[in-house]
Amino acid sequence: MTDMIGQVGHASDLFSKFDDIIAMREDLLASGVEDPFNLVMERVLSPTVAVCNGRETILLGTYNYMGMTFDPEVVAAGKDALDRFGSGTTGSRVLNGTYIGHRQVEDALREFYAMDHAMVFSTGYQANLGIIATIAGKGDYIVLDIDSHASIWDGCKMGDAEVVPFKHNDIDAMERRLRRIPDGAGKLVVLEGVYSMLGDIAPLKEMIAVAKKYGAMVLVDEAHSMGFMGPNGRGVAEDQGVLDQVDFVIGTFSKSVGTVGGFCVSNHPKFEVLRLVCRPYVFTASLPPSVVATAATSIRKLMHGKNKRAHLWENSRVLHKGLKDRGFQLGTDEPQSAIIAVLMPDLEKGAAMWEALLHEGLYVNLARPPATPANMTLLRCSLCAEHSAEQVKAVIGMFERAGKATGIIG
Ligand SMILES: Cc1ncc(COP(=O)(O)O)c(C=O)c1O
Repeated sequence: MTDMIGQVGHASDLFSKFDDIIAMREDLLASGVEDPFNLVMERVLSPTVAVCNGRETILLGTYNYMGMTFDPEVVAAGKDALDRFGSGTTGSRVLNGTYIGHRQVEDALREFYAMDHAMVFSTGYQANLGIIATIAGKGDYIVLDIDSHASIWDGCKMGDAEVVPFKHNDIDAMERRLRRIPDGAGKLVVLEGVYSMLGDIAPLKEMIAVAKKYGAMVLVDEAHSMGFMGPNGRGVAEDQGVLDQVDFVIGTFSKSVGTVGGFCVSNHPKFEVLRLVCRPYVFTASLPPSVVATAATSIRKLMHGKNKRAHLWENSRVLHKGLKDRGFQLGTDEPQSAIIAVLMPDLEKGAAMWEALLHEGLYVNLARPPATPANMTLLRCSLCAEHSAEQVKAVIGMFERAGKATGIIG
């Protein structure tokens, strides 16, 4: 039957699939809590302090691990590039979007990792999407940790390979999956150095040995470890002495580097062909000249970041111990990275604690499913090399007061 406007059949609302999440959000806000996913930084004073709701707030929920965002040389490089090259490239890397700055940041990456090739994308998300989807296609197999970042999962989906997940950080489970893959099939094992929800690291040494035994190529996402893990800040693979076994390292400029952008570095002799066939590289505009200039300057400075790395580790140890001693349940028994996750009983309590901390003058990340493993609600603290010892001490006091006020600790 046709109605007055010519419609045939019943109308369907494509938004009905979001009803559960809309209801969940309404319930949360009805409890009177401030919206944890809508905070505005009115001013940012340094890598560790911003003004939120008119109040100076310690930032403990950014990925500014090495505190490079306000480094005077980094900022000056960006301003200079803005003046000399304009505000944007308005084009793809393979057409008009490669400026001298894009070459320079790729040179800096090659030097930082001591690898032959470096390819810069507009975000880390696109780097995973592009590399994974392009190298592993129909008929190939991707074996990956179940807790992998969304950009890894999306890359798997886009490439159409067979996707074989295994239990988080479980070496035997990974081997069982690899053993079942038909002989001769293309195999890619995808791992992360630091898993960002709980802040735990992967046993890369053992896992990469297993992957190689079965003839798989290995890609490691070092988004949360670049700059401060390993003797040269190259990440967990370097720290565990197996960087030379990794076929592709994926990274981002949005964390330790302190700007935006993503990359892949590799020694694969045919790597450069990817610039012609990788759709998230070809079919998007390249990064603005100011961004690549800040990234190149920051990466070169990170090569000499030994003291900052040591201070960041000290901050991580002090905060982990301080929170553990006060009775908080943490994501790892020992500090393993710059991320310390505090486990919350449920979303409502987590949001109440998040708000209590904000009122104390502290910003942390509230994380909830589906981003978190095992349906957990987490308050994720990420430390910065620019946090002073006094700030870390103050943070522990804030957690103690907020934890008692909300009943999270006794
Ligand atoms: C492990 C991992 N990979 C990739 C990305 C994407 O990075 P970007 O912010 O540059 O898109 C993230 C971002 O959170 C991440 O945590």
